Amino acid sequence: MVSILFVCLGNICRSPTAEAVLRAKARAAGLDLVIDSAGTGDWHRGEPPYLPAIEAGLARGYDLRDLRARQVQPADFTRFDRIFAMDRANLADLNRLGRNEGTRPELLLPLAPDLGRQDLPDPWYTRDFEGTLDLVERACEALMDQLRDAAQPPQ
Ligand code: 4NP
Repeated sequence: MVSILFVCLGNICRSPTAEAVLRAKARAAGLDLVIDSAGTGDWHRGEPPYLPAIEAGLARGYDLRDLRARQVQPADFTRFDRIFAMDRANLADLNRLGRNEGTRPELLLPLAPDLGRQDLPDPWYTRDFEGTLDLVERACEALMDQLRDAAQPPQ
């Protein structure tokens, strides 16, 4: 089963949003995936996602309430097939931590090239939780297309 890890800074806004969005899309498509999220920082370890992120998600049918923040571990680079950083700072931190061993982390938003973006802005600072969801939904749709194609037996 394909395993996917989303990584942001605090693991209370962007990456738990991506976790919940992809989980909902995978369930709707009947695709079994292992999905998790983590932060490069540990300030919020053990905490649920930030309330405005929970509320914005719930309004679109994504439930983040049971998620709890954790910090990325070196073992994540062998446990997960795909690791997605929410922005270039997260990617640089991941590359330092992973030391080029195991899964090579990627940026999330370039999965949907028509977005023309590399970084998912941090709503902890921008307060734009709707914009976060819009971008995460687009990227997760593109990821689902990739995963569905890969799961398809050759015709
Ligand atoms: P996230 O947002 O990386 O999308 O979870 C943040 C949440 C908290 C902090 C920074 C970013 N913080 O500095 O506490």
